[in-house]
Formats: sequence, structure tokens, C-alpha cells
Amino acid sequence: MQASNTSPSTLLSVIAPDMREVDLFIRQRLDSGVPLIGQVSRYIITAGGKRLRPTLLLLVSGALGFTGPERFTLAAVVEFIHTATLLHDDVVDDSSLRRGNATANITFGNPASVLVGDFLYSRAFQMMVDVGSMRVMSVLSEATTVISEGEVLQLMNMHNADLDEEGYLHVIRSKTAKLFEASARVGAILAGASPEIETACAHYGQALGTAFQVIDDVLDYTGDAALMGKNLGDDLREGKATLPLIAAMQRGNAEQREVVKLAIENGDVDAIEQVVAIVRATGALDVARKAASDEAARAIAAAEQLPDSPHRTCLIQLAAQLLDRQT
Ligand code: IPE
Ligand code: IPE
Ligand code: MG
Ligand code: MG
Repeated sequence: MQASNTSPSTLLSVIAPDMREVDLFIRQRLDSGVPLIGQVSRYIITAGGKRLRPTLLLLVSGALGFTGPERFTLAAVVEFIHTATLLHDDVVDDSSLRRGNATANITFGNPASVLVGDFLYSRAFQMMVDVGSMRVMSVLSEATTVISEGEVLQLMNMHNADLDEEGYLHVIRSKTAKLFEASARVGAILAGASPEIETACAHYGQALGTAFQVIDDVLDYTGDAALMGKNLGDDLREGKATLPLIAAMQRGNAEQREVVKLAIENGDVDAIEQVVAIVRATGALDVARKAASDEAARAIAAAEQLPDSPHRTCLIQLAAQLLDRQT
């Protein structure tokens, strides 16, 4: 593994000019004759965000030598899809902080968030049609279907303290990793990659996305809200059995298990300090971090199948640095 102490901004300088194009494109395509659409969508999109899914698409297509303008359109498309899921997710999760600002549902209300989320999905599909690749449309329409399934599955699992690691993994591969996978795969499709390379890119995205969500779930107990730009403890409040809690129940004694179980069943955010103490004492955080690190290693092995290039180095470093992320 190469210099893993490179900062993310240095790391991503290889696609910085591309990302500026993508941002320009995003701004242009937010326009609609309906003022509230522009207001809400600009509110969330200009608040920042790590632009990770466009980053994957640009890095993969760059690693495979593709230089056509379709990469800008499709990078904007995956960010629109992501933003639509965030608008909907914050309504569903009743969240109040996103990207360091009040969420759109707090600022504009639930109806505006849901409807503008729908607009962003629809605009993303219009932009895909402009590119005109049936393969790309097939991959992205499957991705949005699976993301919705993941969110609904998670809803069905709320307050279910019996959810096991396999059930949890199924949810996060669907709600989060699928769009990472699709973004990387689309980059490969654009470049006309061989089926083997396309599959390696898809595996990279899936593994990276899974690791990313596992770390997100760890940060929900251990992170810094100011750095994350979102509130901690939301998962417990919603009764979400994420890996830190699943592992804590597996490793804890009967008493510890009972505390965590009841907290999940009742969405008892007042128990957060006790739950965090149990999560720490049982080594559950290390279990989760190990799971994320195994996925990151899988991502790196997949990226190593691509031809060597600065873009490939970035893909590898993204995976290597993921475990240390604070934002
Ligand atoms: C947030 O995704 C939703 C999860 C999958 C945890 P990001 O952490 O990529 O969100 P932004 O775009 O950087 O705000
Ligand atoms: C992320 O899920 C939303 C999607 C991937 C659709 P979470 O609810 O776990 O993420 P945050 O914590 O709100 O960003
Ligand atoms: Mg949420
Ligand atoms: Mg959610």
C-alpha cells in the first residue's frame, strides 16, 4: 500500500478539474421553472457533501482511460440520486442536521423534501436518457430499486433486536453499497471495459460502500457531530440494530445484552450513555472496525486488478483511509 497519510484533498487532485465540471453541471441541471425546487435542491447540494459517488465514477473511468463528457453527466446523475435518497432519508429518520445545516425537512417541511427528492430522481433519469446507454440505464435503475428495497427492509427491521449480522449486511449493501457499486460499474461501462474489469470495479464499489456504512454506524456512537455535520445517536433513537449493537449483544453478558435489547426495542435514546459504555466494554467497536477493514481490503484487492495509474492509486488510498474517516 502506498503513502496512506496523503490528505484526501491531495489524494483527489487527480480528478479536481473533472469535479469542477461536475459541480457546474449539477448547478445547471437543478434549474426548474418551479422556484421551490431550486430553493430546496440548492439548499442541500450547495451545503457540501463529500461527492464520493461521483468521485468513484470519475476515478474508475479515468483509471480505464475514458475522457468523454458523458462522465460529467453521469457523475452528476449519481450525486442527484444520492441527494434524493438523503432528502427522503432525513424525513424517514426524522433527522434535524445534515451537512452541518438544519435538514431540508426542518427548513422546508416534509412535503417539500419528499417532492423535491422525487424531482431529483426524475431529473437524474432524464439526464441518463441524454447519455443514451441502455446498459447504464439498466445499472442505475436497478440501483435505485435496490436502494428503496434496502430502506424499506430497514424500516421493517426497526426495533428488532434479533436482527443478525447477515440481515444487517443485506440492508447496508442495499441502501448504501449499491449506489457505490453502480457508480464504479458505470465508470467501467463508459470506458468499454471487459466484463472481468467491470466486475472488479463493481466489487470495489460494493466493498467500499459496505465499509463506508459500517464506519458510519460506528461514528453514530463515537463520532463528533460537528465534524460529521449530523447528529449522533440517531440510530438508537430509531431502534436501529447496527453492527456495533449486534456485536455488543453477541459479546456482552446477560445483563449487558438486556440493556442493549431494551434500548433497541424502545428506541431509548436516554440509554445512550449506558449503551455506548457497553459497546465499548464488549469490544463491539473493534468487531465493527474489523468488518469494515475486511471490506476495505476486499476493495483494495479488486482495485488492484485495474491497470496501474494515478487514478487507481487514488481508488486504493480511498479504501485504505476509510477506516480513519471522521466526516
Ligand atoms: C450519507 O452519505 C449517507 C450514508 C450512506 C451514510 P455521505 O456520507 O456520502 O454523505 P455526504 O454526501 O458526504 O453528505
Ligand atoms: C443513509 O442511511 C441513507 C441512504 C443510504 C439511503 P442512514 O440513515 O444510515 O445515514 P445517515 O446517518 O442519515 O447519513
Ligand atoms: Mg438517516
Ligand atoms: Mg436512514
